[in-house]
Amino acid sequence: MSRIDFDLLPPDVRQAVANKTGAVHQAETAAGGMNSGIASVLSTESGSVFVKGIPADHPQVAAQRREAAVAPHLPASCPRLYWHLELDGWSILGYEVVDGRHADYAPGSPDLPLVEAALTELQGVSAPADVEIKDAVDRWADYAPAGTLQHFDGDALLHTDYAPDNVLIVGDRARLVDWAWPTRGAAWIDPGALALRLMDAGHPVEAAVGFASRFPSWRNADPDVLAAFGAATAALWREIAVEDGTPWKLRMADRATTLERALHTGL
Ligand SMILES: Nc1ncnc2c1ncn2[C@@H]1O[C@H](COP(=O)(O)OP(=O)(O)OP(=O)(O)O)[C@@H](O)[C@H]1O
Ligand SMILES: [Mg+2]
Repeated sequence: MSRIDFDLLPPDVRQAVANKTGAVHQAETAAGGMNSGIASVLSTESGSVFVKGIPADHPQVAAQRREAAVAPHLPASCPRLYWHLELDGWSILGYEVVDGRHADYAPGSPDLPLVEAALTELQGVSAPADVEIKDAVDRWADYAPAGTLQHFDGDALLHTDYAPDNVLIVGDRARLVDWAWPTRGAAWIDPGALALRLMDAGHPVEAAVGFASRFPSWRNADPDVLAAFGAATAALWREIAVEDGTPWKLRMADRATTLERALHTGL
């Protein structure tokens, strides 16, 4: 959907936000990402707040509600959720502002150790039992090779969407934002998802898989299991690219096929 400025929200929605934050002095629309109808940093009487909103009848509103539900369970690298409003056709989240820039995944980037630290922290977090989040087994059911789906099962809390605009760098820290797809599953899935994004930023497949191997969950996974992940990821991105052949999706599908081949031969 296209993104609108905060000022274009209905007056009662803006008033409800102001009831939470105090008077809103200024609103600056964020760059990056595409699903949120609203993504703005507000300067308010009580300080800055990042506001992310979507129309309540939009198909993605379920993802926004999952994001709100999982927020209290996220590790320190993720911004705090202050409040969640639903009124007059809008669902709006108010977050701690992360005043940073999108991560640079290029080979040799100084951001990479920071991303590694954030993911290492997340790898130690179990998926909360009392929150409705996605299950990896369900998400990969249509893509995993026959007889491999059980390997995707696990208790880890996974982010799964490591697009660089979902990782913000502030000082010596990487912060993980955009928890639209919180998932319960095998811990090695997140290092694998990150590896694909590193390939898209220019890492040869060997280097990307080498980066994933820094995480014990990936390093200790059976090669057959990782091969199943490669095949499932390639199938998933092929489907995405067939449905909508925008250049970046076609490119991701290509990278995923390269990853599939590498994991099949056991890097
Ligand atoms: N807490 C935050 N503080 C400051 N800026 C943020 C914060 N969270 C997100 N952003 C910025 O806003 C952009 C959009 O937010 P987010 O990624 O959560 O939603 P989205 O991108 O619209 O969803 P999607 O990525 O599914 O399209 C991010 O790429 C980032 O630049
Ligand atoms: Mg995003």
